[in-house]
Amino acid sequence: MFDWIAEACGARRVKRSEHVQTLWSGYGEIVRLALDGGDAPTVIVKHVRPPLARTSVGDARKRRSYQNELAFYREYAPLLDERCRVAALYANRVTTDEWWFVLEDLDAAGFALRSDSPRGADLDACLAWLAQLHARFVGVAPSRLWPTGTYWHLATRMDELDAIRDPAVRASAAELDARLASAQFQTIVHGDAKEANFCFARDHRVAAVDFQYAGGGVGVRDVAYLLDGHSGRHLDAYFRHLRAALPRDVDGDALEAEWRTLYPVAHQDFQRFLAGWNPVG
Ligand SMILES: Nc1ncnc2c1ncn2[C@@H]1O[C@H](COP(=O)(O)OP(=O)(O)O)[C@@H](O)[C@H]1O
Ligand SMILES: [Mg+2]
Repeated sequence: MFDWIAEACGARRVKRSEHVQTLWSGYGEIVRLALDGGDAPTVIVKHVRPPLARTSVGDARKRRSYQNELAFYREYAPLLDERCRVAALYANRVTTDEWWFVLEDLDAAGFALRSDSPRGADLDACLAWLAQLHARFVGVAPSRLWPTGTYWHLATRMDELDAIRDPAVRASAAELDARLASAQFQTIVHGDAKEANFCFARDHRVAAVDFQYAGGGVGVRDVAYLLDGHSGRHLDAYFRHLRAALPRDVDGDALEAEWRTLYPVAHQDFQRFLAGWNPVG
């Protein structure tokens, strides 16, 4: 079943395969293949095979998310440099029911560490990575990506909205969403920028994975999610990285002022999702 992958990578054959982890909600798995000859000794394969029952809203969202991830790797990733490191996409295959991503092995490229709660230089590297992404794509329309990124954005979470018990939270949802959507400065956000989607190097560089929910938005949507709404020096660090990376023709003062105002809005918007996703009481 991996023969075509060996061929696509210029290798003679697959020597070994090793299960890395199961995908979210049993939608497939990540495997590492050791190749005989060819361009890279190992590759990572993200093999998506959704369960057969395909009726729910959630299922449709997930399927679309893999198409989104493929569009990101093909069209957006090549525009990023070392400061915003992502895996190279060596090959892919899409059938009616399956997606295969053959990716550079980031562990082999030096990003072999994972962290549940990055601190210090590691957390700063995640913020710098996000700042590079946001700066590179500021003002770029998210064509072939989600028009609005993040897995929790309101338009795709109507069931969760109905499940919110607190009427005040329910009532404010549309306004929070509208404030984020109508911001003057929009970019491409990662959309699921949690610790588990960063791979760390010993020298505190990072690479990011998992672009299923990359799409349009204000940069602070990613930052509020990563920092869990805490402001202070980490938020300041993000803006320092962002200001240093922004193209010259972008009004950095105006952008920073707008996104600082929207930071608590982005945090509340994520809290709105949580309130309906896991209703308590
Ligand atoms: N190219 C890669 N190189 C090394 N590890 C990877 C690569 N892609 C994914 N992984 C590892 O597999 C995990 C799951 O991949 P991800 O694309 O985030 O799937 P999921 O949708 O299940 O979260 C990542 O958190 C990372 O540890
Ligand atoms: Mg992930």
